[in-house]
Amino acid sequence: MTHTTPDEKQALRRELKRRRKALTAKQQRQAARSLCQRLRRQPEIRRAKRISLYLPIHGEIDPTPLIAWLRQRHTTIYLPVLRPFSANSLWFVRYDQHTPMVKNRFGIAEPCPRFAAHRGHRLPAWALDTLIVPLVGFDQQANRMGMGGGFYDRSLAFMRRPGPAPALIGVAHACQQVDQLPLEPWDIPLTAVVSDQATVRPIKKG
Ligand SMILES: Nc1ncnc2c1ncn2[C@@H]1O[C@H](COP(=O)(O)OP(=O)(O)OP(=O)(O)O)[C@@H](O)[C@H]1O
Ligand SMILES: [Mg+2]
Repeated sequence: MTHTTPDEKQALRRELKRRRKALTAKQQRQAARSLCQRLRRQPEIRRAKRISLYLPIHGEIDPTPLIAWLRQRHTTIYLPVLRPFSANSLWFVRYDQHTPMVKNRFGIAEPCPRFAAHRGHRLPAWALDTLIVPLVGFDQQANRMGMGGGFYDRSLAFMRRPGPAPALIGVAHACQQVDQLPLEPWDIPLTAVVSDQATVRPIKKG
C-alpha cells in the first residue's frame, strides 16, 4: 500500500465527514430505513443476545430504527459510554425506555453513571455478542476509519489476542466508502460494513 502521511489521513477524514454532513434530513431518514432493513438480515445481528449500538451525531447514519425490532426479539441493547478514569476507552451500558441519560464531555447522550454502576448494567466489549460501530470511512476489506480518538480501537484491542471475540458490524452511508484506507497497526478490522446500499465483507485470506 502507498504510504499516507498524517496530514493526508486527516484530509481524508475531513472530506468523508463533510460528505455525510451534507446529506439532507430526508436522505438521512431514507438511509436509516434501508440500513435497518439490511441489518435485520445479518446473521451476527439475528443471533446476538447482547448487542450495542450508538445514538448518531454529526451526520452519522442512524441505527436506532432497529431498536423496536431488537426489543421484540428480546435482544438486550447496550450503548457505549466513556469509561471514567480510563484513558479514552469505552464500556457498554444497558439501554431501555427507563435508562436515565446524561450528556458526556462530547455532548453525546449516554446512560448516567449512577445507573451504569448497578450490577449487571455495564459490560466490557468482550462480553457483547455484536457491536454496531459508527465510522467515518470504510473500504472493500471492511477496514475502518473513525473520528480519530482511538476509542473503539482501544476498547477492542483485546481482539488482537486469541479468544472469544464479538462480531463488529460497521454501519455507514454508502458515500463513506473509499477504495483503500490507510491502516495503522492499532486499527481493528470489522467483521462487515453495512451501508444503506450494500454489505461489504472482507475476502478471507488463506
Ligand atoms: N490500543 C491502543 N492503545 C493505545 N492507543 C491507541 C490504541 N488504539 C489507538 N490508539 C491511539 O488512538 C489514536 C487515534 O487512532 P485512530 O486514528 O485509528 O482513530 P480512529 O480509529 O479513527 O478512532 P475511533 O476508534 O475513536 O473511532 C492514535 O493516535 C493511536 O495512537
Ligand atoms: Mg483506528
